[in-house]
Amino acid sequence: MPIIFIGGTPGVGKTTVARKLAARLGVDYVNVAELVVREGLHGGYDAERRAYIVDVEGVRRRLQSIAKGRRVVVETHVVDSVPPEEVEAAIILRLNPRLLEERLKARGYPPTKVLENVQAELLDACLIDAVRVFGLERVFEIDTTGKEPDEVVEEVVRILREGRGPKPGSVDWLNRLGREAEKYLRG
Ligand SMILES: Nc1ncnc2c1ncn2[C@@H]1O[C@H](COP(=O)(O)OP(=O)(O)O)[C@@H](O)[C@H]1O
Ligand SMILES: [Mg+2]
Repeated sequence: MPIIFIGGTPGVGKTTVARKLAARLGVDYVNVAELVVREGLHGGYDAERRAYIVDVEGVRRRLQSIAKGRRVVVETHVVDSVPPEEVEAAIILRLNPRLLEERLKARGYPPTKVLENVQAELLDACLIDAVRVFGLERVFEIDTTGKEPDEVVEEVVRILREGRGPKPGSVDWLNRLGREAEKYLRG
């Protein structure tokens, strides 16, 4: 099972960590969003959502052929486009919603998109998606808050080596943020 899946809400640091991880392991890095555009694995562009309509089946087939016989690091937030039978481990990166909000604002995301993503992070959306598709046993989550990308990479390497690490449920933003979480959820 050669795919190491790196997931998480936009802005948590998937690209940064996945690239470094691939270099550290000496394997290829696949960014699904880039693959979709480069190889036309979509059914057009949705101007309102400002995103390509991903050809989920097509991407899954492509990832199957890419991962044939070799280990790869795959980054995406479209979990359903990843062939679950090829996944060795699914690592979901987490970030304190307060910091995520700052990061997405700094990226120039419109306020509605910032809020949408902060709420998704708060409610474990990517984590739940990963558990649904890959099953609890293969899913781990890493709280990246206050850590350097290289520290996160080393945590992933440790999880892969030992086959154990922080499991779904170890991050609990609702509990951690309390009243502030309510504010984000009300919008
Ligand atoms: N611990 C960390 N892990 C990953 N990225 C971090 C970390 N700390 C700060 N960053 C910064 O946050 C940003 C994350 O962006 P990116 O990797 O593109 O996220 P994503 O791919 O999830 O949208 C980068 O500018 C990166 O330098
Ligand atoms: Mg990215």
